[in-house]
Amino acid sequence: MPQLDGEKITVLTIKNRKEAGEKISAVTSYDYPSAKIASKAGIDIILVGDSLGMVLHGDKNTLKVDVDDIIYHTSMVAKAEPLSLVVSDMPFQSYHISVEKAVENALKIVKKGGAEAVKLEGGRKRFNVIEAIINAEIPVMGHLGLTPQSINRLGAYKVQGKVKGKAKEIIQDAIELERIGVFALVLESIPLELAKKITEKVSIPTIGIGAGKYCDGQVMVFHDLIGFTNLYLPKFVRKYADVYSIIYDALERYINDIKKENFPGDKESYHLNKDIDEFLK
Ligand code: KIV
Repeated sequence: MPQLDGEKITVLTIKNRKEAGEKISAVTSYDYPSAKIASKAGIDIILVGDSLGMVLHGDKNTLKVDVDDIIYHTSMVAKAEPLSLVVSDMPFQSYHISVEKAVENALKIVKKGGAEAVKLEGGRKRFNVIEAIINAEIPVMGHLGLTPQSINRLGAYKVQGKVKGKAKEIIQDAIELERIGVFALVLESIPLELAKKITEKVSIPTIGIGAGKYCDGQVMVFHDLIGFTNLYLPKFVRKYADVYSIIYDALERYINDIKKENFPGDKESYHLNKDIDEFLK
């Protein structure tokens, strides 16, 4: 059922937020219930991120996620008919082989998955691909700074742009991405001073994750934000809930109730009709 309250958020809404000086909220979602709740809570952008490889599949990085995974999870999110803008990640390999393949994959993610925009990582090496996807009428969100799909080249997930040369490169890439036509830009794990500079220099919204308070918006991984795991979390994560403890406690009480024969009780059981009751005696 479409939600009746509120207005559908589009790439235009997102662009206008910056002009209006309104901060943008974004969160990952990989399924129907989390998309429903994110939309209802008023999240601007739902990101079907390739972080799902680590968060849902238990992989050690995002590299194994493929186009079909993104389509599968995007379609669950799209079924929730969120008011939030649905942006899906282009996974590793889906835009690295050729411009044609990249456009074909982006089109699939939109047509089969129901994404309203795609996000892809990288600067100067990806300009031609990004331009071609935009020319295919698909809005693109850029992603600079720490690009997790580069993990094997980088060697570790670490803050980017701390030295002058790299900081300059990120600024130049951001400016060029705006010129090419990306509608927003994720800045991941860069110093807040650099994120501030970029945010001032470009007129498209910057969405930070580990990039400090000066960005035009923030994005976080849903499972980190709600405290779904008790594993290591990066410094930039703020846990707004401790869902892990809530689930753990519920499961412990469930096990206990089964063992003590407290569950199911009469309230949770069905009864025969009176006449059949007699028949079983
Ligand atoms: O995959 C993802 O969830 C992301 C965000 C962390 C920006 O790219």
